[in-house]
Amino acid sequence: MCGIVGYVGSDNARDYIIDGLKKLEYRGYDSAGIALQTEDGIIVRKKKGKIANLEQEISGEKLYGNTGIGHTRWATHGAPSDINSHPHISEDESIAIVHNGIVENYMDLKKWLNDEHGIVFKTETDSEVIAQLISVLNKGDLEEAVYQAVSMMRGAYAFGVISKNEPNKIIAYRKDAPLIAGLGKGCNFIASDIPALLKYLNKIYLIENDELVICTPDRVEIKNKEGQTVKRDILQVNWSLEDAEKDGYEHFMLKEIHEQPKAIRETLTRRLDENDNIFLDGISLTKEELENFNKVYIVACGTAYHAGLVGKYVIEKMARIPVEVDIASEFRYRDPFVDDKTLFIAISQSGETLDTLAALREAKSKGARILSVVNVVGSSVARESDDVFYTWAGPEIAVASTKAYTTQLICMYLIALYMGRLRETISDEYYNSILSELKATPAKIEKILDKAGEIENLAKYLYNRTNVFFIGRGLDSAVAYEGSLKLKEISYINSFAIAAGELKHGTIALMEPETIVISLATQDSLFEKMLSNIVEVKARMAHVVSVAKEGNTKIEESSTEVIYIPQCTDEVSPLLTVVPLQLFAYYVAREKGEDIDKPRNLAKSVTVE
Ligand code: F6R
Repeated sequence: MCGIVGYVGSDNARDYIIDGLKKLEYRGYDSAGIALQTEDGIIVRKKKGKIANLEQEISGEKLYGNTGIGHTRWATHGAPSDINSHPHISEDESIAIVHNGIVENYMDLKKWLNDEHGIVFKTETDSEVIAQLISVLNKGDLEEAVYQAVSMMRGAYAFGVISKNEPNKIIAYRKDAPLIAGLGKGCNFIASDIPALLKYLNKIYLIENDELVICTPDRVEIKNKEGQTVKRDILQVNWSLEDAEKDGYEHFMLKEIHEQPKAIRETLTRRLDENDNIFLDGISLTKEELENFNKVYIVACGTAYHAGLVGKYVIEKMARIPVEVDIASEFRYRDPFVDDKTLFIAISQSGETLDTLAALREAKSKGARILSVVNVVGSSVARESDDVFYTWAGPEIAVASTKAYTTQLICMYLIALYMGRLRETISDEYYNSILSELKATPAKIEKILDKAGEIENLAKYLYNRTNVFFIGRGLDSAVAYEGSLKLKEISYINSFAIAAGELKHGTIALMEPETIVISLATQDSLFEKMLSNIVEVKARMAHVVSVAKEGNTKIEESSTEVIYIPQCTDEVSPLLTVVPLQLFAYYVAREKGEDIDKPRNLAKSVTVE
């Protein structure tokens, strides 16, 4: 993770960089720093903590330079501290760098730099080697020194460099970590992600692996590993800045919860023609290919994995093909049964999650066909897949994922329906009924959001409990995992999800009067069974908050509170059930006064193992 920004132009780079870093704080925020080319050489300022700390640190200082680089960090090698923060400057103070990723062979490089060049390292980071390496290799040509340095480095990285001796120039390099270049008027930028630059421009170059970028005020040149100039199409970004800002909401998370109806509509309408046929524009899976698959593997991490759990239910039900769902970090080390008869679906909001990317590569090397479900256009997962099914959630800034999850669910339904139709495992009537249910979900979610006040009141009353269990059966058990993750990651309450039928095999021992059990009972086919599980925990004095469909009032007899969601078929209920759980997590965290959009120890995009 970590975010990098660089500016080269005729204004003070400092202001653009600080502003850009603020937009990238979701990528890491345990320290931040800036390096500027000034009349007095390269000046570096860096500070542990959020970007506000850095801003305060430099507020009284005349710091001026037309070229600079900045960084917001999520620590991997070396604890968060002022000294370990980026930018790192070489011993002779000629080179400063900002880096996102990991230099895997940094220990060997450190030893070499120390033994051969007498370099004494100041930090515990892997990143410092990049600055020291480029400085010892630099014989007057920064570009050449960067090429030589990367030929000696192993790992995944994107970095930006400035040199004291080459004014008005930033050089950046990408290998397996995100990097873009932004084209301004009389100025140019580098950055880890688009929101950093949206305020200033909407013309972007997506940088590919093993490419070097040279940025000067009037030129951005991209070169390949061999040093040849590469022609790249400009990507015109149509997100508005407003999309990337809070739009009057107290937190990005709340804004993004409320954006779900729009995001779902967008994701649906981009895949449906006027006759409600699903068209997979840009996806070249044929009927023959779909018939050839004997297995689907869905692989992802965290919330995206939870979307995959729903995917398994719906694809198996509608397309009648076995589906395995796996956590990416487990999949890649298990020598899984994958071959050219496997359809491998990677789900990732950011498209940069290293574990998911590595799992994808593993599946690809075994011959699987790769279909990815991704939110960020042009991200690594998208580029390395055979086919991409984009979610149209817009930028998701809050660390806790919400609208990405519900749009990932929409993709799961569309893939299941599409496959079911081609494989002739569902009738036209069934296809049409599920599609009309899906189309009705945005309005139903709006109804749930209109009642957010009820959930806020519940959170005010329950926020100081220390143990919460989420239980459910069938599709509700998949949603229980997501509800539990949302609560724990932003409120730091110890929460746990379990399939309700499994409770009696051990976990029920933990029930006591202070325990909260959030029981999801939205599956009509399992409703009676779920009622029995609720009675079991209620008998142990737990405080039971149930989520049920309107009209199923029988549940009130055994629950302490009930949150109703609008009527829907069992298949699509996860799209609705998750919304009160997202709101509950949000309001509990707000009641506790936590930093909702940037929860401790987490980062939005996890580009390390
Ligand atoms: C939780 C959350 C994470 C991500 C996970 C995968 O709210 O956001 O669990 O879902 O890190 O990230 P992506 O989807 O970017 O691959």
